[in-house]
Amino acid sequence: MISTPLSAACNVMNDRIALTPTPSDFGDEQFPAALVLVTNACNLRCRHCFVYRDNTPNAPRDKMRDATMLRQLAYLRDKHGIKSMLFMGGEPMIRWQLVREAMQLFERASIVTNGTYGIPTVPGHLVTVSLDGPEAYNDALRGSGVFRRVKRSIYERDPNDGTIVMLQMTVTRENEEAIEPFVEAVGNWPVSGIAFTFYVPTRDDRGPFAWPSLQDRDRAIHRVMRLKQKYPQIKTNLGALALMLSHIALASTGRHGEHCRMKRMLPLYIGEGGQFERTFCCYGNDVDCSRCGAYAVFNAAYHSQPLLRA
Ligand SMILES: C[S@@+](CC[C@H](N)C(=O)[O-])C[C@H]1O[C@@H](n2cnc3c(N)ncnc32)[C@H](O)[C@@H]1O
Ligand code: SF4
Ligand code: SF4
Repeated sequence: MISTPLSAACNVMNDRIALTPTPSDFGDEQFPAALVLVTNACNLRCRHCFVYRDNTPNAPRDKMRDATMLRQLAYLRDKHGIKSMLFMGGEPMIRWQLVREAMQLFERASIVTNGTYGIPTVPGHLVTVSLDGPEAYNDALRGSGVFRRVKRSIYERDPNDGTIVMLQMTVTRENEEAIEPFVEAVGNWPVSGIAFTFYVPTRDDRGPFAWPSLQDRDRAIHRVMRLKQKYPQIKTNLGALALMLSHIALASTGRHGEHCRMKRMLPLYIGEGGQFERTFCCYGNDVDCSRCGAYAVFNAAYHSQPLLRA
């Protein structure tokens, strides 16, 4: 066959299509919201991270090409009615060009990043930047020098670029005493606010981050509640925090996630062979729902109950 520029281009296209695997089948359920790990790679190894736990798909060899991921995300959006997508990883900024393109596919899109690659400009969208305490506490968890790198990223961005930037601290048993020092350290930074979420343990987690019981966690929740009265920068909702308290928390989670509203979110991890794989929940496969500290779970429960908001 004589190869013209057009047929050569068609062959390249056909190669691409041939290399695009069929998306995984996640049934027919509708998921208004989803999250996607655009990469299993990360430049940090935070000690509390749920992504790098055993039994959760996280092998760096399991990659998906940009074109494949864009096609599959568009397909899953149409099939499952996905309106809102959260981009994360690993570290999503490692694949920033892909994230920028993929954000266009959804009505609403947000990013959660470790902030060490700079803060993306995405006007009208939320970028959550993770920091887990003031410098000493954060760096003990996230690695030496990380706090300063993130601070530099925050100060180097144009604060008027239209991006909504929030700092988020994941509170654990290890850093709970540093909640107020954290707010004091970052309270004047040019961001839209400060948010808190709490550690999600594995089953049988007896490590330094997990509170042995929900009662033991209450002290940390009360700390955030008190601070919220003092610092308007804290955006975490008091009603949702109240639902996290030990006497009522299981009503929003269930012992095994049976009441959890985050289970209505489709978690897309990159699994074996570079195919999307759905995990038990956004926090992977090995989680203890009875001690779950995911703020989003309780915030969703709070907003689903009009009487609580009255
Ligand atoms: C897994 S990271 C991925 C995005 C990005 N690499 C980052 O650090 O923001 C997303 C968020 O999950 C939080 N996180 C990690 N492990 C957690 C755990 N076991 N429980 C609750 N939150 C956790 C991180 O602190 C971060 O705010
Ligand atoms: S930066 Fe994010 S993905 Fe990477 S290890 Fe830390 S928490 Fe996990
Ligand atoms: S660990 Fe938390 S977010 Fe995951 S299913 Fe259980 S309650 Fe829901």
